[in-house]
Amino acid sequence: MRGSALIQQTINFAHRGASAYCPENTIAAFRHAIELGATGIETDVQRTKDGRLVLIHDESLKRTAGDPRLVKDVEYGELAGLDAGSWFSASFAEERVPLLEELLELAKNTELILNLELKNGVVPYEGIEAEVISMVQAYGMSERILISSFNHYSLVQCKKIAPGIKTGILYMEGLYQPWEYAKSIQADALHAYKFAVLPQWVQEAAGHGIAYHPFTVNEENELERLVGFGVSGIITDYPDRLNALLRRSERS
Ligand code: G3P
Ligand code: MG
Repeated sequence: MRGSALIQQTINFAHRGASAYCPENTIAAFRHAIELGATGIETDVQRTKDGRLVLIHDESLKRTAGDPRLVKDVEYGELAGLDAGSWFSASFAEERVPLLEELLELAKNTELILNLELKNGVVPYEGIEAEVISMVQAYGMSERILISSFNHYSLVQCKKIAPGIKTGILYMEGLYQPWEYAKSIQADALHAYKFAVLPQWVQEAAGHGIAYHPFTVNEENELERLVGFGVSGIITDYPDRLNALLRRSERS
């Protein structure tokens, strides 16, 4: 499936799950995102010392799991015992850092699109692309996966491994004709910071089969503005707000 398949729908990507309401990147956040009407989930993939693929944003466990070490230096058996929810609220004390397979299991009998962001800009996690793709393939979910990264070499590597897997280019600034860049690395989508999007660029990119999925868009007026630009998806901490807006626009 090429990028143009992404353009036919407005995907409501819950950023790190429903992270406005639950501790980010936990099963609670993913489940709640579905309840709030998300049609996609964005999450961050890293790797433990013993090679398990886990969903966590920071390279360090400090902020969300209270351990000063880096994810790459801790074995999964130990990581699995850490409380990844109390930092957000005591009512989430049972939440853990999930494995990628837990999310795949949760999503496999749904129509959810999963945006797996490879967090390999600081710690390189050599070979993580093949590991993620092989797990997704084992679940038979390649068609519903979009791999993104700020490390664009990694996106090229994904296409070398599995040309059919969809990729999204993460970036912050005003790239010149980013659809041309996307085509040059066979990417399917532009995961642009929300201020690096103009309506004429969205149209131009669509004409080249490239989707725009801006991040992280939370305020009602910003969501409305970007939906009005015709973007193909939005990454938000508030999938409920985006869901309500998309339903209103369907009716009008
Ligand atoms: O994928 C969109 C967004 O998650 C990228 O930034 O830091 O929230 O992972 P970050
Ligand atoms: Mg992310």
